[in-house]
Amino acid sequence: MVKICCIGAGYVGGPTMAVIALKCPNIQVAVVDISTARINAWNSDTLPIYEPGLDEVVKKCRGKNLSFSTDVEKHVAESDIVFVSVNTPTKTQGLGAGKAADLTYWESAARMIADVAKSNKIVVEKSTVPVKTAEAIEKILTHNSKGINFSILSNPEFLAEGTAISDLLNPDRVLIGGRETPEGKKAIEALRDVYAHWVPVDRILCTNLWSAELSKLAANAFLAQRISSVNAMSALCEATGADVSQVAHAVGKDTRIGPKFLNASVGFGGSCFQKDILNLVYICECNGLPEVATYWKQVIKVNDYQKTRFVNRIVSSMFNTVSGKKIAVLGFAFKKDTGDTRETPAIDVCKGLIGDKAKLSIYDPQVNQDQIQRDLSMKKFDWDHPVHLQPMSPTSVKDVSVVWDAYTATKDAHGICILTEWDEFKNLDYQKIFNDMQKPAFVFDGRNVVDAERLRKIGFIVYSIGKPLDDWLKDMPAVA
Ligand code: NAD
Ligand code: UGA
Repeated sequence: MVKICCIGAGYVGGPTMAVIALKCPNIQVAVVDISTARINAWNSDTLPIYEPGLDEVVKKCRGKNLSFSTDVEKHVAESDIVFVSVNTPTKTQGLGAGKAADLTYWESAARMIADVAKSNKIVVEKSTVPVKTAEAIEKILTHNSKGINFSILSNPEFLAEGTAISDLLNPDRVLIGGRETPEGKKAIEALRDVYAHWVPVDRILCTNLWSAELSKLAANAFLAQRISSVNAMSALCEATGADVSQVAHAVGKDTRIGPKFLNASVGFGGSCFQKDILNLVYICECNGLPEVATYWKQVIKVNDYQKTRFVNRIVSSMFNTVSGKKIAVLGFAFKKDTGDTRETPAIDVCKGLIGDKAKLSIYDPQVNQDQIQRDLSMKKFDWDHPVHLQPMSPTSVKDVSVVWDAYTATKDAHGICILTEWDEFKNLDYQKIFNDMQKPAFVFDGRNVVDAERLRKIGFIVYSIGKPLDDWLKDMPAVA
């Protein structure tokens, strides 16, 4: 029986391995991690991540051909294929700080594999890494190999959170990069056989190592660029009276452009878009391509501009001050159907409002008080490290309360900011909410989820991203 081990039981390692176990009953899959808390949660009824459909898959396979363990070395030693899906944060110190990927966790995993291996292994890069990382990993493995053969493959993951299980069950493509040597080709074949259990072979793309590594960074950069493009248009729409949804619809009807990923928003978040583009920028700079680096850097700059613009719009609309005013924040996760808050735009928006001395009352159906306090007090990029290396009890941020329903959050508030597109925010009883708020009552919709006209009829002053402005807002232009 083929044995697979995955180092890193996170948002990628957990769901990816669960689906491999589901689709390949003849393969034994072990997911290992240095975080005992995470592994305990994977072995419990409350999984460490919220992801639609994940519980069912894990329950079907756990105890059969899927296991979760902290015994990293044992499972690595026993396996034929080792996936590495550990954190690859942005460096915060030293060379390349603020841009380059920190490969500390990857390197330590590679050294451990070399240390404990007693048989030949295929080592698969599942984490997103800078192009040419495989070369460094290969060197670490071969210089410590004690005669054992390691074949290294790049197999980047393209799942999106919130739809991870359906993305994994029905991927647009699976990408496998390897060396163009007989051993490299054999390794590619072995991994292709795993995916071929459920993915049509014409969707399994095989390339050289560097193309696979770079394609992952490129795909995320292209996706983020679309959002920054539509968000840049949203600012122009507000200035001209155009409606960004209509513009996006008209633009997306061109089959060469396509309709997906053109939703204007308060900005993109998530653990990867910013990190991977910064990484791409750094690689361009290191390769003497400053113009290319500047091009991609602009995607991040527009995203930052969009978040700042949103905060400025709130403050300027509310008589240029939110000091002492209660602002309800609906949604904190970086998108709906996940409890993940990594790089969520809500962090920057909340910090901006706190900077203007607002009192925040935050509600998100999947994010708890501890996480929100942690996010608001943590330094930039510090979140992307194994949980046990993060500060245990951060100093809590004053003027922030976290509540468990939208009505409590909005009671007596001066304004509401919608920062995540949870479906429940579409159908709240806005008349009741209006009655319980201070007047004038404002709604700032950072995700364009509410029916602005209906809310205006109730009496709200409504700001929707990229939509024709309320007369009230026209008189108080936001200076970004
Ligand atoms: P994560 O933080 O959720 O999980 C990483 C896990 O690795 C943690 O549980 C950590 O404890 C563990 N770990 C770190 N070093 C270890 C070691 N030496 N031994 C054992 N365990 C170790 O991260 P994630 O979101 O799963 O992302 C992992 C990688 O996949 C990143 O490179 C990311 O860019 C990439 N990626 C993420 C997504 C996503 O949607 N989150 C999608 C595609 C690719
Ligand atoms: C993204 C990619 O979509 C995945 O293919 C990739 O594997 C993953 O990053 C990764 O490498 O981590 P994810 O970040 O989970 O997935 O979620 P997305 O659906 O891409 O959303 C990212 C952010 O963009 C969210 O904040 C979302 O609200 C925002 N977004 C998305 C918009 O503002 N507008 C859109 O039209 C689409």
